Amino acid sequence: MPDLDRERLLGARRLHREVFSVEAGAVAFAPGRVNLMGDHTDYNGGLVLPIAIDLGTTVAASRRDDNRIVVHSVHSNSTVSEDLNALDPLTDNGWAAYVYGSYAAAVRRGWFTGGVSLSIQGDLPLGAGLSSSASLECAVLVALLGFNHYWVAGDISKEDVALAAQEAEHLFAHVPCGIMDQSASMRSLEGTALMLDSRTLCADHVDLCLEQNGLAILLIDTNAHHELNDGGYASRRSQCDDAANRLGVDVLAEASDDGALASLPDPLNRRARHVVSEHARVRATVSAFATGDLGALGELFAASHASLSQDFEVSCLELDIVAAAAPRAGAVGARMTGGGFGGSVVAIVRPADIDAIAAEVLRDLVSAGCAAPTFRLVQPGAGARLLSRP
Ligand code: GLA
Repeated sequence: MPDLDRERLLGARRLHREVFSVEAGAVAFAPGRVNLMGDHTDYNGGLVLPIAIDLGTTVAASRRDDNRIVVHSVHSNSTVSEDLNALDPLTDNGWAAYVYGSYAAAVRRGWFTGGVSLSIQGDLPLGAGLSSSASLECAVLVALLGFNHYWVAGDISKEDVALAAQEAEHLFAHVPCGIMDQSASMRSLEGTALMLDSRTLCADHVDLCLEQNGLAILLIDTNAHHELNDGGYASRRSQCDDAANRLGVDVLAEASDDGALASLPDPLNRRARHVVSEHARVRATVSAFATGDLGALGELFAASHASLSQDFEVSCLELDIVAAAAPRAGAVGARMTGGGFGGSVVAIVRPADIDAIAAEVLRDLVSAGCAAPTFRLVQPGAGARLLSRP
């Protein structure tokens, strides 16, 4: 087990003992993700290209004799609890909605029954567009599955767990998300990106050839934080559904009639143009990485950011400033990543250029009156895993 996972395991056991005065039965870790290409394509049947990162959520679980789910979160510094028969998707449970929803999804599938105590901690910044909610859902589900011999034997697929996590988010957090984040958290393999077809759920584990091309992935968190359940995300999704209906296609990502697209009323024409072009950019990005065509990579990242900002209108001032400043200071490419309305920019960089890029980004943000960003180097990490089981 890698050192970081060992530390997570020891920390999770310690916390669980302190909070519940019992030993943890199962401990699970599930990562957040950074999407490299293909945003707002996953609920349109399109391709996405996320990597899991080595930041995420650790959940420890132990069985209870009563009929309750009791949850402690270090981040919110609080413990909440609910009767298992009273779990209600319509109650506003704040952060606990993700946990209750994941528990309910596990129970509905017969993966777990009975009372449970859960303790939760993590190192993923919330609201940074790194999928902290999917990481929480997946960590809860894998911790519960730690008690299930079908999971341990490999008889329950990671794809099914990702779908259960998505169901939790739809029903309990009321975010009509796609399947990218939960898939990245569950299905990623270390050292590779996950090229996922969100319609078929078929996935390829893609080597980005970062080392051969002398590249690194720099994440620039604008610290302008976003909430996906405040309406903008849901409204984009329903505009896409509307566009697909008007075009008479099941999958907006594969609408191919340019004339029909252009004749949609504004803003549906721009929403559709983003989805179709972004879907095509995913394969092109995979080949640009594979062939080391850095010029093409830069153009794809720039086109993606422009499309998300102008056609899909999910960017914001901070993201636009960073996506423009980083390439000017030497980044190979930079684009916003994830749902948008705040969050992070992902930049492909040569390590020697990082200081210059950071200085330029900081200068531009500060002179526009924005907060200082946080810079992190990230690597394609492994998907969710059990760190211990009963
Ligand atoms: C959020 C959603 C994902 C996806 C992205 C945008 O992260 O959870 O399903 O739609 O936004 O690509």
